[in-house]
Amino acid sequence: PFELELAVSKKTVTVGTDETVLSALACAGVPVLASCMEGVCGTCEVGVLKGTPEHRDSLLNDGERAKNDRMFVCVSRAISDRLVLDL
Ligand code: FES
Repeated sequence: PFELELAVSKKTVTVGTDETVLSALACAGVPVLASCMEGVCGTCEVGVLKGTPEHRDSLLNDGERAKNDRMFVCVSRAISDRLVLDL
């Protein structure tokens, strides 16, 4: 599990091993639009302010991944214990 800190809505959300960031956000009342659920369409992009995402999408190239400034929450998770998201 890892934690999400939502900078705009001032919430903290725990993401369990059996759920996606997208589903954890929806459960916390912060729904993010999504479409493909496979990391290919880009609809669910969220800005990352702090922390290191574990990128599992097929959209970002290596340089974009290394910036750690956005993630696709339908598939991507976290390497760090906590991510601060622009939500
Ligand atoms: Fe398509 Fe996440 S819903 S990339």
